Amino acid sequence: MIRRIDALEAEAARAFDEARDSGALEQSRVRWLGRKSELTQLLRGLKDLPAPERAAVGARANRTREALEERYEAARARLGGASPPAASARDVTLPGRCLPRGHEHLISQVLREIRTIFHGMGFSLAEGPQVEDDRHNFGALNMPEGHPARAMTDTFYLKPGALLRTHTSSVQIRVMERQAPPVRIICPGRVFRNEAVDATHHFEFHQVEGLYVDENVSLADLKGTLEHFLKSFFGPETEIRFSPSYFPFVEPGAQVDIRCFFCGGKGCAVCGPLSEGWLEVLGAGMVHPNVFRAVGYDPERWTGYAFGAGIERLVMLRHGVPDLRVFFESDVRFVRQF
Ligand code: PHE
Repeated sequence: MIRRIDALEAEAARAFDEARDSGALEQSRVRWLGRKSELTQLLRGLKDLPAPERAAVGARANRTREALEERYEAARARLGGASPPAASARDVTLPGRCLPRGHEHLISQVLREIRTIFHGMGFSLAEGPQVEDDRHNFGALNMPEGHPARAMTDTFYLKPGALLRTHTSSVQIRVMERQAPPVRIICPGRVFRNEAVDATHHFEFHQVEGLYVDENVSLADLKGTLEHFLKSFFGPETEIRFSPSYFPFVEPGAQVDIRCFFCGGKGCAVCGPLSEGWLEVLGAGMVHPNVFRAVGYDPERWTGYAFGAGIERLVMLRHGVPDLRVFFESDVRFVRQF
């Protein structure tokens, strides 16, 4: 077998030395060093040889392989170091392959926009957990156990005492617990309600909460802030209306509407037969003294306002999106439109 290897080495070496161009050299490389070459087969068959012979033949064959590889490299250098043929088959004029790029979701864009508007009025950003306890979602917000307003939203309970927050108002409590007044924050975030899903209801959506606490805060401050926000968001022509409403954690409480910009206030399918030309966009009010008491703020000294808006609702109105569900379906055809 060793003799066969010697003969093979001599023959291959000659082939490499005599190759006249890179094509011929490549053919010789395939023939003598390629995957199907005699030498490779032989190395592969080593394991079947009896042990003593295996060592001797193996060593010899490996040396031959190294020697031939050197010979081949030398021949390649002599022929001008032509690059391997695979490279010449590459068509450099072909257009490149595009990597698909992602697109920022409309809700994320709008959240950023809302943050910017409120930053401009001196609000900073606050965050709170989506899994909440009873106290932060209800109790400290003037909804003691058994309070009928707890039934205004159907709550997802994870276990007794642990729930998915039904509104971002829970973050009001968290912020006031860890910080002394004055407070001026907004908190955008995801909230959850056990709702049957349809075009205008979903079991998860986003809200943005606002809270301002200081001495001598008045309803006029609340109106001014929300007016600036709504005009920045919906355009300078936006008409705004406050009307009385009830939320346990504010007194007085208000519902904030904007004039329907689809029908200009005449009444249409969007603003509906009942609201007649107005679209409800926010809940708001002056912070209830019981909320201040729950977080250890003196209600005789501190005053404040709070508001909360549904982000999807704001976006549906501004962009004319008729169905809430598309926000959660991750369909890139929807996402890319904005
Ligand atoms: N948390 C209320 C809701 O989810 C909105 C709200 C926030 C109302 C703050 C008043 C003050 O509907």
